[in-house]
Amino acid sequence: MNQPHFLLVTFPAQGHINPGLQFAKRLIATGARVTFATSVSTHRRMSSTSIIPNGLTFAPFSDGYDDGFKAGDDVEHFMSELKRCGSQTLTDLVLDLANKASPVTCIVYTLLLPWAADVARKLFVPSVLLWIQPATVLDIYYYYFNGYADLIANRIDPSYSIELPGLPTLTCRDIPSFFLPSNTYAFALKSFKEQFETLRQETKLRVLVNTFDALEPQGLKAIEKLNLVAVGPLIPSAFLDGKDPSDKSFGADLFKGSKDYIDWLDSKPNSSVIYVSFGSIAVLPKRQMEAMANGLLQSRRPFLWVIRRSENGAENEENKIPDQLEELNDEGLIVPWCSQVEVLSHASVGCFVTHCGWNSTLESVATGVPVVAFPQWSDQPTNAKLIQDVLKTGVRVSADEEDEGIVRSEEIVKCLEMVMEGEGGEEIRKNAKHWRDLAREAVKDGGSSDRNLREFLDDLVRERQ
Ligand code: UDX
Repeated sequence: MNQPHFLLVTFPAQGHINPGLQFAKRLIATGARVTFATSVSTHRRMSSTSIIPNGLTFAPFSDGYDDGFKAGDDVEHFMSELKRCGSQTLTDLVLDLANKASPVTCIVYTLLLPWAADVARKLFVPSVLLWIQPATVLDIYYYYFNGYADLIANRIDPSYSIELPGLPTLTCRDIPSFFLPSNTYAFALKSFKEQFETLRQETKLRVLVNTFDALEPQGLKAIEKLNLVAVGPLIPSAFLDGKDPSDKSFGADLFKGSKDYIDWLDSKPNSSVIYVSFGSIAVLPKRQMEAMANGLLQSRRPFLWVIRRSENGAENEENKIPDQLEELNDEGLIVPWCSQVEVLSHASVGCFVTHCGWNSTLESVATGVPVVAFPQWSDQPTNAKLIQDVLKTGVRVSADEEDEGIVRSEEIVKCLEMVMEGEGGEEIRKNAKHWRDLAREAVKDGGSSDRNLREFLDDLVRERQ
């Protein structure tokens, strides 16, 4: 049989590119070739510090914003241009690849690009969604668009339980923020709706999910009609199964950083450092940054805090760095970006204060680092629920609703102490190591995610015959 050729299309954001690129590397390890496509402006920002495996090529496509999406641009307009322009340029790309390279066997696309499946259908190419959030979140969206909308949305009373078949009991604190009346991102629900309508048209419904069987046994099976194939965690091999020690980074950083924090980490005792990062999109209000700074200083532990610089004109936190951090000695270090998985796997790191983006959550699982969960929006509240109540690898901060939802410094100190010391903390730290071992188990040869990926590939071959 000819070498399979995958076209991997990712939404132009760090949280999509990282798992997409790792999935590309996994496909290549099975003997496939991959063309990796994201937007022109995002491709330009991608650093390629890691070794690019043979069999991986990049083919940026235009989303109509070739100079990049800037702070103040209209996100609704961006999404419609992405669809209009992206559908055309992706069609051209598939045809071009068939002429000049080899025909595309399957298009794999990440969230917020449901139109990629329409392109595939028109060109008679199979397609599959790579869901980059937990299976549990996929289930919640599925339920929402299939008869449970009233039960899920607009429940602003936290004492109201949301019972969905096969899922843990949820409240409004735990559901994706797009369902709340305060949601200002209408584009997101619209895109998810289109995504689920697209899935309904699939003759063979299956979704690849960045999770692993042992992590979400209920979430993966909650809905019989959905064939969820767990292929994660999609994390660089050097930090997981060690099969490829050179695979040490995603190799696609959209933000500039340096490596000077490694010496600083080396100088700290084991499990003493608090690592703080809110991913690539979330922006904390200035008052929250001040409360965080006070909490970190009061905890009297060394901390490494990622405060992003403005890149590409996007909103950032750099100009909100609290005064108390202006003259730090050795108490802490602020960096504009770092190699997060490398930091998390450093022996000196003892706790991760995270916004609970699903990649960050999986990275904490795979490196066995306990968590203070500080969710902001989108799937993060649900991920925080999983961390605190299902995996039991961390605690979730409580916000002061009477004070604009600010999490106070005392609360931050309390959570840090709970995770980093004391009896409760011991249990959390033990659980973190337990899940780390299961994550490694899942991706090794013959592990559940390895088997699932191979079965998916075998199915594709059978369907092509
Ligand atoms: C977005 C959504 O916000 C998130 O909720 C969803 O689950 C995925 O898409 P983002 O907010 O960027 O992602 O968070 P996350 O999913 O955690 O992804 C961030 C990625 O950037 C991680 O892979 C992390 O390792 C990386 N990162 C972050 C760095 O490499 N260095 C840093 O300094 C910060």
